[in-house]
Amino acid sequence: MMQNPKPLSLYIHVPFCKANCTYCDFYSVVGREKSIPVYLYSILKEIEQKTRELDLSQHYLDTIFFGGGTPNLLEPKYLGQLLEALLNLAHSGEDMEIGMEINPGEASLEHLKAYKALGINRVSIGMQSFQPHLLTFMSRIHSVEKSFSTYDDVRRAGFKNVSGDLIFAVPGQTREEWVGDLERLVGIQPEHISTYSLTVEEGTALHRWVEAGHVKMLEETVDNGMYDWGRDFLEKSGYPNYEISNHAKPGYECRHNLNYWTGVDYLGFGPAAHSFFGGRRSWNIRNLDAYMSDVMNSGTGEGDSEIISKSMARNEMILTRLRLTQGLSLEEFSKIYGENLLQTKKEMLEKWTGKVMVSDGFLKITQEGRALTDEISSDLMSLTL
Ligand SMILES: C[S@@+](CC[C@H](N)C(=O)[O-])C[C@H]1O[C@@H](n2cnc3c(N)ncnc32)[C@H](O)[C@@H]1O
Ligand code: SF4
Repeated sequence: MMQNPKPLSLYIHVPFCKANCTYCDFYSVVGREKSIPVYLYSILKEIEQKTRELDLSQHYLDTIFFGGGTPNLLEPKYLGQLLEALLNLAHSGEDMEIGMEINPGEASLEHLKAYKALGINRVSIGMQSFQPHLLTFMSRIHSVEKSFSTYDDVRRAGFKNVSGDLIFAVPGQTREEWVGDLERLVGIQPEHISTYSLTVEEGTALHRWVEAGHVKMLEETVDNGMYDWGRDFLEKSGYPNYEISNHAKPGYECRHNLNYWTGVDYLGFGPAAHSFFGGRRSWNIRNLDAYMSDVMNSGTGEGDSEIISKSMARNEMILTRLRLTQGLSLEEFSKIYGENLLQTKKEMLEKWTGKVMVSDGFLKITQEGRALTDEISSDLMSLTL
């Protein structure tokens, strides 16, 4: 019997990809599908180790997410084995959200039906753009048509909670193309839409091109203009924004991500996966071979960890909550940290007049302040760890 039931989220990183996309720095390996059985065995071992080492009797499973990389490169039978082991970790919550990422053109209708039958109930499709020249620029290996046919297959397989990811502010992209992309995505009525501004991550081909001067990123004002237009358009189309990059029909906000952003415990499995449990954050080794051999030898693929101090937790709460449209609950903050932010950060908040607001007990960033979210957050953070 649970005295004090606490939600728990699980993340499984599936690091296999068919190709490297120009912009992506999520950990992935190409052409390594032959390692999938050993990878799978390693994850099962990691799960077994966690079962032994953690007391999860007071936790219930709230969400599970298979992210990547490319989770659809796992055959349904493998994904089923993982899911079975994961579901044994703790009590299942009611109405769990179990999601996976799908790349356009990479999952057959038969596989999608099998994933659905296993209990996956949310799918997010990495469509990225409906402009062929931008897909080429990003080294995406699917066509625009594949994004739509995969979406149709996902619906045919019976999924009722579907998200589409789009990237904007891609070099060479016009405002009209961005408007067209959003109109087409809204036209097919997914439940959820993620819009990411293209970021230049170190170690990617995009980073090298930009550094060498071969590619010029769009001006910040253009990027912000595309964002603001998109947010308004999605709002009017029935997809209110609930986090900087995320928009959903009411009731379809991604629970897994909301759990990350609101400090719920989570356990990550697979190379490069992060965990946050009982005030301790840890991350697995970012190398498939090293991860697999470490798990074989010791049962864990953990690379490093840190204890989250009160001051770090306070900063993280400010950072993550201000990215949410709902904002930061001043009452919750004061209960946890014994601090009235409106008093302790009075001067900072005055400095940002018009860019932040307080409404219904929540401190929020206004539309005008959105592009300055990081600056505003750092003004409210404390620099001592
Ligand atoms: C890690 S990817 C995995 C999804 C899946 N493998 C795919 O390619 O569709 C998750 C999402 O992050 C976004 N993303 C990854 N790198 C990004 C970047 N540098 N800038 C903006 N969005 C990015 C993409 O929209 C992508 O769909
Ligand atoms: S965007 Fe997706 S398919 Fe492309 S490299 Fe990243 S994880 Fe792999």
